[in-house]
Amino acid sequence: MTTLRLVELTVDNVDDACDLKVAKPQRDYVSSVARSLAEAYVQPDIAWPRLVYAGKKLVGFVMAAFDPDNPTDYYRSYLWRLNIAAKHQKKGYGRFAVEAVLAEARRRDAASVTVSWMPGKHSPQPFYLRLGFKPTGEIDDDGEIVGRIQL
Ligand SMILES: CC(C)(COP(=O)(O)OP(=O)(O)OC[C@H]1O[C@@H](n2cnc3c(N)ncnc32)[C@H](O)[C@@H]1OP(=O)(O)O)[C@@H](O)C(=O)NCCC(=O)NCCS
Repeated sequence: MTTLRLVELTVDNVDDACDLKVAKPQRDYVSSVARSLAEAYVQPDIAWPRLVYAGKKLVGFVMAAFDPDNPTDYYRSYLWRLNIAAKHQKKGYGRFAVEAVLAEARRRDAASVTVSWMPGKHSPQPFYLRLGFKPTGEIDDDGEIVGRIQL
């Protein structure tokens, strides 16, 4: 079985990370890796960006926000971005990335992790529901459905 692991961004992998693409119809549902990294750059104390490798292959990007003092409860321990490359989807890599974020949140003594998603035809909603996130009934500032998983 291929070993899955998270890797930090470095000068050696950042170009490949920025080339990572989800399928075209999915691009309305998630920001590019480059945009996410720019957001991480201006919030280094909060952003937790990682690459997902299957063996030697780069297959995805995940970024969490850990911001325990955020006035908005659902941004305190938040699965911010998740991009699995189009050709590597449906192989369990998305689940691995989410579970890695949950593990990091546990390490930081968080009680739950939230995520938000846009509903629609190519939405990640079924994926998050399958993994156990439950809609909280809230809609965030971008009009996205907020989901939470207890740890
Ligand atoms: C959503 C996404 C991250 C899922 O990643 P993935 O690697 O394909 O998902 P996995 O293979 O780990 O799937 C885990 C489970 O969810 C299910 N699942 C994944 N995508 C699904 C979908 N679109 N519809 C229904 N079930 C889905 C899988 O069948 C699997 O179920 P199982 O436990 O019964 O085997 C990926 O499709 C993606 O990057 N999408 C575009 C970007 C995006 O929307 N990101 C989220 C922004 S909030």
